Amino acid sequence: MIKLLSGEKIPLEMHKARIVQKISLKPIEERENAMVEAGFNTFLLRNRDVFMDMLTDSGVNAMSDKQQAAMFIADDSYAGSETFYRFEAKLKELFGMNFILPTHQGRACENIISKVLVEEGSVVPMNYHFTTSKAHIMLNGGSIEELLIEEGLETKSSFLFKGNMDIKKLKSLINKLGRDKIPFVRMEAGTNLIGGQPFSLENIKEVSKVCKDNSIILVMDASLLSDNLHFIKTREDACRSMSIKEITKEIADCCDIIYFSGRKLGSARGGGICLNNEEIYSKMKVLLTLYEGFITYGGMSVKEMEAITVGLEETMDEDIISQGPQFIEFMTNELKKNGVPVITPAGGLGCHIDALQFVSHIPQEKYPAGALAAAIYIISGIRGMERGTLSEERQTDGSDTLANLELVRLALPRRVFSLSHVKYAVDRITWLYQNRELIEGLKFTEEPEILRFFFGKLEPVSSWTNRLVEKFIEDFQTKL
Ligand SMILES: Cc1ncc(COP(=O)(O)O)c(C=O)c1O
Repeated sequence: MIKLLSGEKIPLEMHKARIVQKISLKPIEERENAMVEAGFNTFLLRNRDVFMDMLTDSGVNAMSDKQQAAMFIADDSYAGSETFYRFEAKLKELFGMNFILPTHQGRACENIISKVLVEEGSVVPMNYHFTTSKAHIMLNGGSIEELLIEEGLETKSSFLFKGNMDIKKLKSLINKLGRDKIPFVRMEAGTNLIGGQPFSLENIKEVSKVCKDNSIILVMDASLLSDNLHFIKTREDACRSMSIKEITKEIADCCDIIYFSGRKLGSARGGGICLNNEEIYSKMKVLLTLYEGFITYGGMSVKEMEAITVGLEETMDEDIISQGPQFIEFMTNELKKNGVPVITPAGGLGCHIDALQFVSHIPQEKYPAGALAAAIYIISGIRGMERGTLSEERQTDGSDTLANLELVRLALPRRVFSLSHVKYAVDRITWLYQNRELIEGLKFTEEPEILRFFFGKLEPVSSWTNRLVEKFIEDFQTKL
């Protein structure tokens, strides 16, 4: 952050743009039609209809010149590619683990880890679930227990490590179930579904001690590790003088298995599993070959593997990894100043709007976060993602599983948007907040059983979107 003459603090880009992509802002009626066609599901919008794509940072962070350059030297061989050995060496250097398995993306790691370690009746304790990680554990007959600290679900908070695990709860769960029912404990860095909130180094060390005392494997989902590293460095007193590399190594030393989505960590497209245990590695290797590809590419393009290798090294640079959190903090604070309910403290990944507060008149069964995400797109062309009840699976009796939090996540893919983009987003969302009573709920028209948020279709419970469009044109005197 840099302080201006006026006293205002703004995030300053530590890079310059040398390749750009044209985007367009369509008139509001066209945006409303596009939303109808997408079944009120922002995942189903066509990108040509989107102005700012804030759906996710997954695979859409801007790559560096060094990453692009590395793609040219990719070694395209099915087996024994030099590209793999560079990828393997970088991961071994950063995490200090012996065995590295490449995969095509993060959920492929989750598939392999769950198939090898989870069995019928297994319980996997975790700080908080992620959609695909939970789904893979359940598909293999297991269940999950979320042991997040109490502060984790407080939407307005000053607690700096809301992704921490509650150590007392972990100990008592192990006492209750016995260690044999617990194939592993999962710690997610930069906890996605609660607003990109980090765990502290102190906390993962404590979790690791409990796991070691009970001979339980500790698995870290490092997909959002770069934001978490930045927060540890800037928020944890004991770590301020440590380098990012030192913090990374101390976290890695706590874990038995580390996996990641290379669409996030490493800013390219792929993934990987890192571990020390040879017996588990041997089992995973077989599944990797079956589901992903040969062990030296694992379903990943070698070009992407080269880009991840450079991206991982760049993750060790505080100037690079601070960009995302600083833009997110700026956006969060500006919205907060305008009275818009946002998750605080600002986390990583994106700016998170608290839909339960924003549209408190919409019951959870009518998907407030889904309705708000649709409204944001219609009035601004900004595509966010619902992270609430829509993203949950139904209970066995057919009723909705009401999510702990109803969030609209506006991701800030790293180095993609400028400050004027962020100011535009803040302006339009503030207008929407002032007109929030116009927004009503949604209902399903087509509902898949698993991961319904990806491709389910919905419709508004009334003609509220028409009223929203009319009010927008009346207030702004423009259709843009
Ligand atoms: C924390 C976390 N774990 C796992 C995944 C799955 O990774 P992928 O999308 O590469 O399959 C994601 C993706 O968003 C994630 O955020």
